[in-house]
Amino acid sequence: GTTLGASAAESGRYFGTAVAANKLSDSTYVGILNREFNMATPENEMKWDATEPSQGQFNYSNADRIVNHAQANGMRVRGHALAWHSQQPGWAQNLSGTALRQAMTNHVTQVATYYKGKIYAWDVVNEAFADGGTGARRDSNLQRTGNDWIEVAFRAARAADPGAKLCYNDYNTDGQNAKSNAVYAMVQDFKSRGVPIDCVGFQSHFNSASPVPSDYQANLQRFANLGVDVQITELDIEGSGTAQADNYNRVVRACLAVSRCTGITVWGIRDSDSWRASGTPLLFDGSGNKKAAYTSTLNALNGG
Ligand code: G3I
Repeated sequence: GTTLGASAAESGRYFGTAVAANKLSDSTYVGILNREFNMATPENEMKWDATEPSQGQFNYSNADRIVNHAQANGMRVRGHALAWHSQQPGWAQNLSGTALRQAMTNHVTQVATYYKGKIYAWDVVNEAFADGGTGARRDSNLQRTGNDWIEVAFRAARAADPGAKLCYNDYNTDGQNAKSNAVYAMVQDFKSRGVPIDCVGFQSHFNSASPVPSDYQANLQRFANLGVDVQITELDIEGSGTAQADNYNRVVRACLAVSRCTGITVWGIRDSDSWRASGTPLLFDGSGNKKAAYTSTLNALNGG
């Protein structure tokens, strides 16, 4: 293949990017998006603060701009994210207990119902585990409603859109460590009890303090062996030149080596589109030129 999306499709996979609605009027951005990618993840537009700014009042206008653009240009959509401790609207931040649990469940149901049939996979729950060596759940208002909040969210999502794959998504779970072990145990438990979960997303935000783990492929494989798909959901790698290119190549080859790794999403198009305040973590430079990391990624998708 000569583009990321077409090359990934040759092995039945997708290659996606985070998309920001306010950049859909940037012709350079849209040109690269339409040429290279066949999956789109709204970067912020499907989050709770964006879709339910007041309780019970849903606003899908910016998310719809992305979904409509994707559909019109042959891309599928990864939904991100239904239940998360961060980017909650103020009204939800002020709730607790039963009121918050009901608001969360209603939010999952409403959003997944609105987009029924249009979403390849939902990040149903995002970032619910703590960093560090405890393997504990992250303390949050959602967690304080009861440890079963995650499975409640998954069951609500399944009921609302039975055709969407339902994912758990997190960061610093890319290698084998206490945090990923805890997620692994949760997935194993969900599979054994019939809680509906189809996939696990590995965000894969890498930098010098958090490099591509040596056991990255082995970690993807052990989750796949539980009977879920795995996806690389928010890939970006700090650095430049050959070192960055080699790291991208290695990540892509790891996915291709795992049959249930169904696709890769980078977290933005140009370096200037990155959530990182500074740095050059993406595949295109600020002018939209292909970087060495682009070429090494394309080569890996084509078996090199
Ligand atoms: O839209 C407002 C704008 O109206 C306001 O003027 C401006 C002033 O700060 O803020 C704008 O909102 C910002 C939003 O991005 C849109 O640009 C928020 O402040 C900012 O916090 C938000 O950052 C996003 C971040 O998630 C929030 O947690 C990043 O764009 C987004 O890339 C990032 O993505 C996350 C994933 O969802 C989950 N995994 C980690 C990843 C990177 O942090």
